[in-house]
This record gives sequence, structure tokens and C-alpha cells, in this order.
Amino acid sequence: MKPSQKKKEFFYRKAKKEKYRARSAYKLIELNKKYKLIKPGDIVLDCGAAPGSWSQVALDIVDKTGFVLAVDVLPVAPLQGPFKFLLADLNKKTTINKIKKSLPRKADIVMSDAAPEFSGIKERDAGLTLQLNKKILNITKEILKPKGNFICKSFQSSELNGFIDEVKQIFKLVKKSKPRASIKKSPEIYIIAKNKN
Ligand SMILES: C[S@@+](CC[C@H](N)C(=O)[O-])C[C@H]1O[C@@H](n2cnc3c(N)ncnc32)[C@H](O)[C@@H]1O
Repeated sequence: MKPSQKKKEFFYRKAKKEKYRARSAYKLIELNKKYKLIKPGDIVLDCGAAPGSWSQVALDIVDKTGFVLAVDVLPVAPLQGPFKFLLADLNKKTTINKIKKSLPRKADIVMSDAAPEFSGIKERDAGLTLQLNKKILNITKEILKPKGNFICKSFQSSELNGFIDEVKQIFKLVKKSKPRASIKKSPEIYIIAKNKN
């Protein structure tokens, strides 16, 4: 078995054992441990949430006093705790109003693990991912409270720096991070942004 397959298998088994819906859970757990992004009582918007492992991780942290709103074009089965699911396309203009109506107040954190279906054609996949990233950043500008945090999965490409520059205009601290549970050869990369202006 290749090292990348071994790693996938390791986190897959761990997720099964620990009752997470996907191995992606460990990416958020690591990013949150390193950058301290989510805290008890937070209002969280989870973009591209299906099957729901990031929402599971967030619910464990925010506890009963917080709230997690999950958005996806695919269904997310109900989760225990202060949780709501919205079936919506983040690329559509009308989605922002649906999100606003579903949140009890402005969010403390917006996190996105959303990614379009990859075709294997690098330019196309990078382009579609950045387009989606920009839509999510626009939503974030409106619904995230000042001093709030942002995590966004993106795609390593020549255009990524342009997106990072946009993020830097809105947040005081911006970093790139590749968690251990992310396969090395995968082009995915996480943008971590803290302290919204
Ligand atoms: C890698 S999965 C997310 C896994 C999730 N974080 C978890 O831990 O369970 C990416 C998700 O992004 C969603 N997605 C892609 N494009 C979207 C869009 N335009 N609007 C909403 N969701 C989208 C997909 O349907 C898919 O469920």
C-alpha cells in the first residue's frame, strides 16, 4: 500500500472508531488545535458540510450555548445539539439571505471544506474552487462578526495568492496550512484567517 493510501486508511478507520462521519474531521481538529479558531458558545457556519464531520467537531466545542449551521447541496443527516441544516448552493446569490435567516446572530466563525467535483483537469478544478472560495468569502464579509475567524479549503495554484490577498484585506492574520490528515499529493490547502476587521 502507498503511504498516501495508508494515511487515508488510518484516518478512515480512526473516524469509524470515533464515530465521525468522515476522516476530514481530523483536519479540523488539527487546525483548531493549532490556531484556536472555535470556542464554547460560538455561532458557526459550516460551508460544504456533508456528510457532517466538521459540524460534529464544531458541535463538540461550541457546546449547548453555541450553534452550528451547516450548508450543502447534499443532505446532512441530523446531529445532536444546537444544529440546523440548510440545503443550498453556495454559488447562488439567494443563499446569503437564507443563511442570514437561519443564524441567531452574526457568526463567530465561518469554516468551509466545500469543493466542487474534481475533473482532474488542474486549471478547471483550481478555477472552480477559487470561484466557490470567493462566493464564500463574500458571504463571510456579511455574516461574520468583527474579530471573527475564517477557515477555507482552497486549491494550490498560481491564482491562489490573489485570493489570499483578498482575505488579507479583511482579516488581521492570514496563514496557509496543510493538516496531517490531508493527503500530501492532494492540491488542497487550508487558508486560516483570524480577527476580522
Ligand atoms: C469534502 S466535502 C465536505 C466534508 C465535510 N467537511 C465533512 O467533514 O463531513 C465537500 C462538500 O462541499 C459541497 N459543495 C461543493 N460545492 C458546493 C456548493 N456550491 N454549495 C454547497 N455545497 C457545496 C459538496 O456537496 C461536498 O459535500
